[in-house]
Amino acid sequence: MRFENETVLITGAGAGIGRETALRIADEGGFVVVTDVDEDGGDGTVEAIEDAGGEAVFQELDVTDADAFEAVVATATEEYGLDGLVNNAGVIQSPADTEDVSESTFEHVIDVNVRGVWNGCRAALPRFKSQGGGSIVNVGSLASFLGLPKQSAYSLSKGAVMNFTRSVAAEAGSEGVRANAVCPGFVETSMGEAYFESMPDPEKAKERAKRQYPLGRLARPGEVADAIAFLLSEEASFITGHGLVVDGGYSVS
Ligand code: NAI
Repeated sequence: MRFENETVLITGAGAGIGRETALRIADEGGFVVVTDVDEDGGDGTVEAIEDAGGEAVFQELDVTDADAFEAVVATATEEYGLDGLVNNAGVIQSPADTEDVSESTFEHVIDVNVRGVWNGCRAALPRFKSQGGGSIVNVGSLASFLGLPKQSAYSLSKGAVMNFTRSVAAEAGSEGVRANAVCPGFVETSMGEAYFESMPDPEKAKERAKRQYPLGRLARPGEVADAIAFLLSEEASFITGHGLVVDGGYSVS
């Protein structure tokens, strides 16, 4: 019960990795503020948590809206006392060479993946500092460390997430705030599926990808949730500024 008497706010918690993280934290006694742009997805996560005997509320939130993020964090802090923030919401681009990526795609990817994490940290940091502690986990990607062909806007955004995480860790550590990132390889979520669906032969592309992982398969969202929960929790009390790669060995083979 690592999260007993704690409240954690998660963005993009209506599906995939965010939903699994919400379930994991609630399962370990935490109260979860489930946020997402997708109301049905967010409600579904809260329902799943309550069905399992946990506690959560849904709050609609588009992470690109700084004022809305500030308001949601303010309410969560005042009403429940916020201990943790998981900046998980993210979008992938359709595969394209850099010169063929449209301005609107570029702006959307940067807005959600970079500005969204920025907005979340800017809202939480003053509160975490004034209460003498708090834990932030940002969701990066293998693309935080590796250059992915035809994913340069996404890679740009996830590289930024990693280095921003290091900056926040260096800046706020003396005030008891930790900031880390979890950096997964392919994960079996709708985002992972969308990537393969954009390939000429999705099944073949998926099988080829699996073969590149020493563990021979893609990650389950719950395995990424486990890494997020670890870094968020007191088990990681002396870990900050770290990018925890969850990739089945892809980057070392
Ligand atoms: P997903 O597409 O299954 O879920 C993403 C959730 O974020 C959805 O519920 C969606 O409604 C929400 N969302 C999208 N834009 C939003 C916005 N502007 N404001 C608030 N919520 C928004 O994706 P998945 O796979 O669970 O991804 C979660 C994170 O993990 C993302 O940051 C992604 O970049 C990262 N990641 C995913 C990998 C994968 O293979 N699935 C690999 C590496 C990193």
